[in-house]
Amino acid sequence: MQLQVENVSKIFGSKAAVDNISFTLDRPGFIGIIGRSGAGKSTFLRMLNRLSDASAGRILVDGTDILALKGADKRAWQSQCAMVFQQFNLVPRMDVASNVLHGLLNRRGTLTTLFNLWPESDITRALEILDRLGIAEQAPKRAEALSGGQQQRVAIARALMQDPRIILADEPIASLDPMNAQIVMDTLHRIHTEDGRMVIANLHTLDTARRYCDRVIGMRDGRIVFDGTPEQLTTGAARDIYGADASFSESATSTAIEALEPDTRYAAAMLND
Ligand SMILES: Nc1ncnc2c1ncn2[C@@H]1O[C@H](COP(=O)(O)OP(=O)(O)O)[C@@H](O)[C@H]1O
Ligand SMILES: [Mg+2]
Repeated sequence: MQLQVENVSKIFGSKAAVDNISFTLDRPGFIGIIGRSGAGKSTFLRMLNRLSDASAGRILVDGTDILALKGADKRAWQSQCAMVFQQFNLVPRMDVASNVLHGLLNRRGTLTTLFNLWPESDITRALEILDRLGIAEQAPKRAEALSGGQQQRVAIARALMQDPRIILADEPIASLDPMNAQIVMDTLHRIHTEDGRMVIANLHTLDTARRYCDRVIGMRDGRIVFDGTPEQLTTGAARDIYGADASFSESATSTAIEALEPDTRYAAAMLND
């Protein structure tokens, strides 16, 4: 799988949230996008999975510009790139198994989802995925009853239900304690190595990017200011990315956790689509 990002921009009013970025991914790696809050990381992921339209540029996936897709082709692309969010975006009062089954929303009809008429094969698969992620026994519980780390694994299970080629994770561990953060990153990494799926994760912290990614892209003010391996991500390079002054310390980027509003629209779409 090859993904070529060519001169992609996103303009809000007079401000370029993503400013003419280009890079090529030649294989389904584990890619980290890092940068401080407001650098354009989420905006880029949202363009990649067509949650929002780019202002300019092309993104060629095996030669096809996915930014130009419409209708059924656009939905087919969206089902190939599953999203995982910082705030999990599960339907809180719905049971875990049903949350996972809703990963199939694009492929099953309204009646199926409305009346919970999932084919038995779908249900079996959902339970197998939960089992694979070590949370099978949580299947009948309401999502809101689970810990944050368990909820994020449910969200990953929902993503896997789509059988996606790419998993796009937007700050997947920013709301988790260190132990759960590690479990979730290990889970994403396993899915990458065992299934060969590409993972593109927006990450707030340097240490996580260094530990898990085989390629790191650093963004600052909408531009790419670093593109290399974790080994090349020196303290000096990190200083360029984070735009820090002499008092820059790596630990600051490991502890800075921004509180974001959950993307409630995603959960709402699951119920209303
Ligand atoms: N819907 C929007 N309308 C206007 N400005 C936006 C919108 N979404 C993001 N921005 C702006 O675009 C820039 C990049 O935001 P974002 O992609 O969320 O950064 P990051 O995910 O790296 O924190 C920020 O300056 C942000 O305020
Ligand atoms: Mg963001």
